[in-house]
Amino acid sequence: ARVVVLASGAGSNLAALLEAHDAPGYGARVVAVVTDNPAAGAINVAHDAGIACAVVKTADFDSRAEWDMALAETVAVFNADYVVSAGFMRLLGAGFLARFGGRIINTHPALLPAFPGAHGVRDALAYGVRITGCTVHLIDEGIDTGPIIAQAAVPVEPGDDESTLHERIKTVERQLLVDWVSRIATGTLTVDGRRVTVTPA
Ligand code: GRF
Repeated sequence: ARVVVLASGAGSNLAALLEAHDAPGYGARVVAVVTDNPAAGAINVAHDAGIACAVVKTADFDSRAEWDMALAETVAVFNADYVVSAGFMRLLGAGFLARFGGRIINTHPALLPAFPGAHGVRDALAYGVRITGCTVHLIDEGIDTGPIIAQAAVPVEPGDDESTLHERIKTVERQLLVDWVSRIATGTLTVDGRRVTVTPA
């Protein structure tokens, strides 16, 4: 399966996918990276791996809807079977969802439905939870509300700050994402309401 990764940040999830996708039987290939952030570390990760990379900046468009359509057009150029959003910090609009809905996999650094949004790690820490984690889910029209594919728990340690906790989560998160992208690419994904099933081939 052809995968286009959307990333806005460091790109460690992207790097993990690029590390894994050469394995025989992995079933998915990252064919391109698309970002909204010209300073994203993910751009360097893509270049180092020789992967096509496109920057679609919101500032270059008169409206969010036009940016959204441009983003969809850009992803479509690469004939994506699946879109993986890994640290992409923009909401995908109706245009993008109409085109790729049901095939957009997101990873979030908290146990949804707890702590959705752009500061899931900070919010969990501030709340004082003892266990947090990460969630791989399909994107729907809400903010981190799509049906859940997989989750993993990560303990909060005494003395944690946002970055130490986020790093601990990311270690688990990239493994969960790499694992489930392969399962989805090699198996059959079915969604029944909120229930997602991935049936091995
Ligand atoms: C990940 O934890 C992702 O879940 C969150 O932002 C982080 C992105 O990390 N939205 P990276 O850019 O993949 O290193």
